Amino acid sequence: CRVRNYKFNVVLRNTTRLCSTKPIVTVNGKFPGPTLYAREDDTVLVKVVNHVPYNVSIHWHGVRQLRTGWADGPAYITQCPIQTGQSFVYNFTITGQRGTLLWHAHILWLRSTVHGALVILPKRGVPYPFPKPDDEVVVILAEWWKSDTEAVINEALQSGLAPNVSDAHTINGHPGQVANCPSEGGFTLPVQSGNTYLLRIINAALNEELFFKIAGHKLTVVEVDATYVKPVKLDTILIAPGQTTNVLVTANQNSGKYLVAASPFLDTPNVSVDNATATATLHYSGTLANSPTTLTIPPPTNATAVANKFITSLRSLNSNKYPAKVPLKVDHKLLFTVGLGINPCATCKAGNGSRAVASVNNVTFVMPTTALLQAHFFNISGVFTTDFPGQPPHVFNYTGTPPSVLQTKNGTKAYKLSYNSSVELVLQDTGIIAPENHPVHLHGFNFFAVGRGLGNYNPKTDPKSFNLVDPVERNTIGVPSGGWVAIRFLADNPGVWFMHCHLEVHTTWGLKMAFVVDNGKGPNESILPPPSDLPKC
Ligand code: C2O
Repeated sequence: CRVRNYKFNVVLRNTTRLCSTKPIVTVNGKFPGPTLYAREDDTVLVKVVNHVPYNVSIHWHGVRQLRTGWADGPAYITQCPIQTGQSFVYNFTITGQRGTLLWHAHILWLRSTVHGALVILPKRGVPYPFPKPDDEVVVILAEWWKSDTEAVINEALQSGLAPNVSDAHTINGHPGQVANCPSEGGFTLPVQSGNTYLLRIINAALNEELFFKIAGHKLTVVEVDATYVKPVKLDTILIAPGQTTNVLVTANQNSGKYLVAASPFLDTPNVSVDNATATATLHYSGTLANSPTTLTIPPPTNATAVANKFITSLRSLNSNKYPAKVPLKVDHKLLFTVGLGINPCATCKAGNGSRAVASVNNVTFVMPTTALLQAHFFNISGVFTTDFPGQPPHVFNYTGTPPSVLQTKNGTKAYKLSYNSSVELVLQDTGIIAPENHPVHLHGFNFFAVGRGLGNYNPKTDPKSFNLVDPVERNTIGVPSGGWVAIRFLADNPGVWFMHCHLEVHTTWGLKMAFVVDNGKGPNESILPPPSDLPKC
């Protein structure tokens, strides 16, 4: 293993999309940002230098960060942000992980343009557990906003109403074929007939779950969230913000151009239909540039059956070499409701005296002004409390119609887990306002998705059908609209770990909380001391 040094200069860069130009916040001037490569067991040092008029922090989404929570990145959770003119070196070792992850800004809505791939190759000499591809390609799905995303969310917070949605979806930075801006070129993926490609697909969008498909070609899923799965061949995959999916694609045609489409699931984009689907082109070598493209029709936005087919087909590889280590006994049995609600708001400029909020167990998380990890490590009181409720405040009963009481309570609360305890967490969606899934992301851990269902979770009968043998292992899971998922994980990583909906609008509204894991006893049970350049608030 070796040390990989990277430098991330966070700079403004004028960028043109949809026929208009604006300055965007980038890493090293690139949108999407640079791909970071490492091997399993490598140590990664990334020096982030902030040259923009915003506070910045970067999260290495899905990296376990064993005992190195200071390098995790979420602003005001594990660190204070890097201020303009300042820098911070993220220093972490990649332990027991290989596959595709992503890095992204973890403050306000800067993730819209500050994101990129994190590719972790297996240790030298260790093959993939699937046929070696002829080539590998990173495919990042995201959004393009004509306006400044910081302004979009600030405006929404002041009005109390839902923020605007993006103006287009993108594949590797480009919307593709867009009728109202014909000069907008899309991403081209050159292929050779007969070759097989590993696509490392990442959804970095702020607010959109996306379907992904390629005309005339099947996708064999081999990995999700940097964990190997039993290969499954599908026409369409679904990928939520924060999730990653590796697929093998064989170029089994002789020649031609084939449409690649990324289209939204369960949302009502106010973008024109034609902007809502991002497109790219699979281009066989030897095919003339002006030859016609074989098209494909993306699933409709309400294609729940297509989504379910993908979700329920995923299983851990669970081989001798990569066993699924599902916790079989449970120390903490938790039930969290996740969802949207409405709170009174006297100062809101719109919304008839109320505002949209989101919560976990009816707690709307309020961001602290000192990082929780600092408060925890240095015993600073008054920053957060550890009385986050392990069960909903009143018995939740999903009926599909909004209950009369939607109100939540503000708080900066964490739930305490003892080191090496095992956790079963059922996330129950309240499905009250919007018909979206909530892609919930847990920092610091991978978890096993042992169960999933619609309606109310039943603690007596549902656990009987849990998969404790080969459930998919992930760091981000879609909680189905009006349904639930059950996850299990081992709390083997001391620190303060954020958990939140990866739809940025829901995070902003408060669908977030934190776990504290720290016994402060044995050498592995506590977090290491902070690096000397850790930013100050
Ligand atoms: Cu990818 Cu807390 O985020």
